[in-house]
Formats: sequence, structure tokens, C-alpha cells
Amino acid sequence: MKAVVANDHGAVDLAKRMLDHLKARGIDYEYLGTDSEESVDYPDYAAKAVMEYRRGGYDFGILMCGTGIGISISANKMEGIRCALPQTSFSARMARMHNNANFIAFGGRVEYPEPVEKMLDAYIDASFEGGRHQRRIEKMMALEGR
Ligand code: RB5
Repeated sequence: MKAVVANDHGAVDLAKRMLDHLKARGIDYEYLGTDSEESVDYPDYAAKAVMEYRRGGYDFGILMCGTGIGISISANKMEGIRCALPQTSFSARMARMHNNANFIAFGGRVEYPEPVEKMLDAYIDASFEGGRHQRRIEKMMALEGR
């Protein structure tokens, strides 16, 4: 399994935690985030990660900014991307099972009700259910560019 990971200055510590967690799980990754608190622009990091993901060989992407909002909206502007911004492990699991999200976003300044690593695991360990959800995803993706 391989992930592409990127973050802005609002999630430097969270990104370190996430990379440690991926390492501990034996998940390979390409890290394209900033490791400095110096202010950068999150759309640049969303774009970098998505461009790398499109090169192929990745199972999913992880994006982080202060809230996770700006970087997830940015990624979702790019063709083919479904970036989820879950607040609990339940919604992280559903992001895979029902939405087949190919990216997941978190906020480095957000106080989540449970460890972010647990939320990430819920997403990674879930599988897309297909069926009626496939039809809905096709309809969702057909909205691109409208
Ligand atoms: C940067 O200050 C902050 O706006 C960014 O990390 C993110 O929270 C935006 O959605």
C-alpha cells in the first residue's frame, strides 16, 4: 500500500504523527508537505499531492492544513478527486465504504473527539461497497465542470 501525503504550515506536527503512523503500519508513502511553520499556501500542496497521485501507484492521499478545509476543497477542485474531511472514525470509514474517497483530509488545529490515527485506520481498513454507491459516485463525478 502506498500513500501520497502533503500539508501546509498549519499541520506540521500532525503530518509528522501521520507519517510515523504510516511507517508503523508498514505503509509506503511519498511526502510532499512542508516541515516548516513558515506560511505557505495550501492549494499549492493540494495540487502537488494530486499531480503526484495521478502519476500512479498510489492507493490514496492524505492532505492536512489547519482545519483540513482549504486543502480538501482545493483537492476536490481537481478532476477525479474525492477528498473526504471526516470528523470521526465512523465518517472516515464511510468515506471509503460509500464515497470511495481517494483522498482524506485532516486539520492540524482541530480538536477531534478521537485520535486522528484511529480515524485514518478506519479509512484505510475499510473497503468500497460498490452497488448503489457506485451509481451515486458516477453521478457525483458527472457534476465536475458544471
Ligand atoms: C493557514 O493559516 C490556514 O488557513 C490553513 O492551514 C487552513 O486551515 C485553511 O483551510
